[in-house]
Amino acid sequence: MLILGIESSCDETAASVVKDCREILSSVISTQIEEHKKYGGVVPEIASRRHCENILGVVRKALDDANVTLADLDGIAVTYAPGLIGALLVGVSFAKALAMSCGKPLIPVHHIAGHIATNYLTFPDLEPPYLCLVASGGHSHIIEVLSYTKFRVVGRTRDDAAGECFDKCARAMGFPYPGGVHVDNAAQTGDPKAFRLPHPAVAGNEFDFSFSGLKTNVINTLHNAEQKGIAIDRNDLSASLQATISEILTDKTIRAAEALGYKKVALAGGVSANSGVRAALSEACKERGFEFYMPEKKLCGDNGAMIACQGSYNFLAGITADESLNAVATLSMEDI
Ligand code: KG4
Ligand code: ZN
Repeated sequence: MLILGIESSCDETAASVVKDCREILSSVISTQIEEHKKYGGVVPEIASRRHCENILGVVRKALDDANVTLADLDGIAVTYAPGLIGALLVGVSFAKALAMSCGKPLIPVHHIAGHIATNYLTFPDLEPPYLCLVASGGHSHIIEVLSYTKFRVVGRTRDDAAGECFDKCARAMGFPYPGGVHVDNAAQTGDPKAFRLPHPAVAGNEFDFSFSGLKTNVINTLHNAEQKGIAIDRNDLSASLQATISEILTDKTIRAAEALGYKKVALAGGVSANSGVRAALSEACKERGFEFYMPEKKLCGDNGAMIACQGSYNFLAGITADESLNAVATLSMEDI
């Protein structure tokens, strides 16, 4: 089975061909980071325009690299939700037209389900059920992966996502967009105990996250120091921020796993590239004898292979779309 996956929900135009659900034959990613850097964040209209310019070339290269033609494909999978609406519409319209012109099934894929699937590409033997922490620029979710296509959200962020917190604090520290990776690099030589940062309390669902208080605390720390003319060590603040985010994510995920009886835990999403988060969750799982899975680094950020992989499982489960498929900016995983 050969599935083409197309991703355009944010600032990466990506396409990939995946064979038999888990074998990546090609993966092409055209990133717009350099362009959005000038503005300190993703500018939605620019993102849509670049997707429009790049998508044909990216898809053509993915087919060429895999040495397959459109006729060889069993289906065309595309991210239809959630994300920037104008960006999603480019991928959805393109995939629809392509599927119609070559008479192939169109397969809708939820972006977060795609992130979860990166662990199937990394670990050939991983199978549901398990508990997955998905932390990215737009989402922080603890999800019960009940089957390849059924999910239950156990916890979600009430405000900022973990990646957003990394990026906004990084920006305040003077790092370029997207700042998460710069915080990670700076943290390597910093003291994680140099700053005492808050672990925000969340009323109601104990597995929900809140990162806006932490973000505000870091920004206030920087402003206060600036007003007093005190120099802040960016490495120390980065290390403290990274340790705090890692502790919050790990603590809630482990508590959710224990409460729900999961001994199999996975990590996914752009923030799964973070060395502190990887180490903290992996260590906590090891201490409790849990199996732990995390994607190889090159699959952590947005890519087409994760959409092709999840698209393959959707296809096997009979999840296809007709010509009325539309992009959706916000959509819970439980509503797919
Ligand atoms: O999954 P992703 O590529 O896009 C979304 O679906 O949002 O995630 C991007 C997020 C950004 O916030 C980025 O700063 C963060 O992942 N990120 C990191 C690291 N690499 C990427 N955050 C912390 N440490 C990293 N090494
Ligand atoms: Zn993503």
